[in-house]
Amino acid sequence: MTRTTAGNPGPPTTVILFGATGDLARRKLLPGMLHLMRTELLPELRIVGTSLEDHDRESFIDFARKAIEEFAPDVTDGQWDDFAKKLWFAPGGSVDALKRTVAEAEAECTESQTRLHYLSVPPKAALSVIEMLRDADLAKGSRIIMEKPFGTDLVSAKALNAAVHKVFREEQIFRIDHFLGKEAALNILALRFANGLFEPIWNRHMISNVQIDIPETLGLEGRAAFYEGTGAYRDMVVTHLFQVLAFIAMEPPTALDPHAITEEKNKVFRSMLAIRPENVVRGQYVGYRDGEGVDPESETETFIALKCFVDNWRWAGVPFYLRTGKKLAEGQRIISVGFREPPKSMFPEGSGIGQHGPDHLTFDLADKAKMSLSFYGKRPGPGFRLDKQSMQFSVDETSWAGSVLEAYERLILDAVKGNHTLFTTADGVERLWEISQPLLDDQPPVRPYAAGSWGPNQIHQLIAPRAWRLPFERRWRDKNAT
Ligand code: BG6
Repeated sequence: MTRTTAGNPGPPTTVILFGATGDLARRKLLPGMLHLMRTELLPELRIVGTSLEDHDRESFIDFARKAIEEFAPDVTDGQWDDFAKKLWFAPGGSVDALKRTVAEAEAECTESQTRLHYLSVPPKAALSVIEMLRDADLAKGSRIIMEKPFGTDLVSAKALNAAVHKVFREEQIFRIDHFLGKEAALNILALRFANGLFEPIWNRHMISNVQIDIPETLGLEGRAAFYEGTGAYRDMVVTHLFQVLAFIAMEPPTALDPHAITEEKNKVFRSMLAIRPENVVRGQYVGYRDGEGVDPESETETFIALKCFVDNWRWAGVPFYLRTGKKLAEGQRIISVGFREPPKSMFPEGSGIGQHGPDHLTFDLADKAKMSLSFYGKRPGPGFRLDKQSMQFSVDETSWAGSVLEAYERLILDAVKGNHTLFTTADGVERLWEISQPLLDDQPPVRPYAAGSWGPNQIHQLIAPRAWRLPFERRWRDKNAT
């Protein structure tokens, strides 16, 4: 579907993209920035790509063209031509070349403009890029987006924050977590705080458990160098899954503004109990160690499932089960809020009551966001048989389906406009590493699992006597299905 976003355009902008020939740039950032340009959300946009790979302007434009053909196939020739003219390349590692190329790109625009550095680089490369920006005198007055994971533990996160703060003020820094830019994640805030219906039931009295389950079918996709030193916990949990957890668990913010939202999210992180190794299952898919660039004795986890707790008045005692991993049976991104079962039932055994778990509210964080409330209802016909039924909402079935902004598009636009609401702060990130430290200090063994499975068998013990919602017993309804 052609997307037709309209909204307030951002100011003229030059993005300096570090890691410009990496996987993220190819899949999301270059197609996303083209989208912002063609929908006039960022009509005046220039991009200076830089990377350690051997490229010049021409070969970078060629790289971008292939990325667009693959990930934004509906782009017209005219739109591509306009975009290609806005691409520059500076070879990585040279302060002079970077400075010169940025000056050349910026000289194309006579109006005042925003300069945005996007660091799509692994954590260990972040510091040298920051120093390069200082040496090239490109930091002053600019903004910087930093990719996760922000550090690899508490000590390194603190050191990185301190080093970044020597060059950039906190207001200039945008620590990105793209899950917070997903329409479906934002809809959690709308559902919770724009309606009176949910607040009274949003607590430990009514909710028995929460599952945040993000299995992926993807493998490493050529990212072994990054993934070997990162693993599923640092790549996904301490970043995306905890951020999403905060949206589910936070108290009502006083306003839709950066300070209020951040404060409530950070309160959730402060209330979280440290992650205990005995509540964690780590896994590695069979065959991972044979992959190119992977240590044959690697202990990196490609799968993780864990139980954690937010120990405050609203959530004390309610387990949050988190799971994610590579090469699993299905690609899904769901949050499932499980409600307590009724204390007594007039329905006899065999009627179907409770047979499919408790009633649930489910958010699907897929690009085509969905939501579903499932409950027991009467199966039509004689007798009184109960069955699980559901009310479902899908953005795709509404007239706004074409307006959905991809998460990176939204967050780049927010950063250009200086809006910090959906970005993480130094405090928040450090607190998440702090609660992670007991796990990082004493990692349970990695257990093998077959590619295409749901992870090692121990995941069932972790959640017993409950069960994982995935795989779903029933599919989401699809209006386009025949
Ligand atoms: C990235 C991780 O941040 O998120 C990847 O580094 C993961 O390993 C990806 O595949 C998942 O994001 P999405 O939006 O595709 O679900």
